[in-house]
Amino acid sequence: MTTDQPGLSKLEKLNALLGNNTRRPTAPTPAATRQGGSLKPPTTSPANVPLFPSPNSAQRALSSLAPPRGRERKKVALKPGHSPLDWAQLNRTEPKFKLRGVDPNTPPPQFVKIKKEELKKHKSQDDCWTCINGRVYNITPYVDFHPGGVEEIMKCAGRDGTALFNKYHSWVNVDRMLENCIVGLYVP
Ligand code: HEM
Repeated sequence: MTTDQPGLSKLEKLNALLGNNTRRPTAPTPAATRQGGSLKPPTTSPANVPLFPSPNSAQRALSSLAPPRGRERKKVALKPGHSPLDWAQLNRTEPKFKLRGVDPNTPPPQFVKIKKEELKKHKSQDDCWTCINGRVYNITPYVDFHPGGVEEIMKCAGRDGTALFNKYHSWVNVDRMLENCIVGLYVP
């Protein structure tokens, strides 16, 4: 803008000399648009951008709902082909006696009583049993599928894992997840 333009007020001339543009921006004319003129998005300073959700919105998690310190969710990388969906697929296709790790002629789980001494014998990763809520499961085929990692689930190998299991995820439906791995009932 030059200061000798006709029609400018004294203040506008002064501002033009100082490099301040006090004129209100005008909508681009069709001609200006055709020449690739002023179609830039309006510049809004970050201070003027409204916060979404607003600070008091119920959509914002309250700090008391955040996981307690030291108990943040621990994500573990599972081996390829070991997602929860893969586990569900395996349960549909694999014969049940194989998941239970028993001979096909073994009687149904509700007739097999397992004592503490027997449970203790199965505590290695390639022969792993645990008891959750009074039922003994062969978790050998599941260990690599455990979303919390092998190390964690092996803490309940060969013993009653009910308390540990409930400490981490009492909401997990173990009866359903391991329904084909049940070996028998725990009679300690
Ligand atoms: C047979 C026993 C178990 C089964 C069927 C099982 C199953 C699961 C499942 C389905 C999840 C995912 C939960 C989710 O994303 O909401 C999970 C996560 C986890 N599990 Fe287990 N679990 C077993 C035993 C254990 C044991 C004994 C421990 C600890 C000693 C453990 C520690 C964890 C941890 C730390 C996670 C990650 C939790 C998170 O993402 O917040 N689990 N387990």
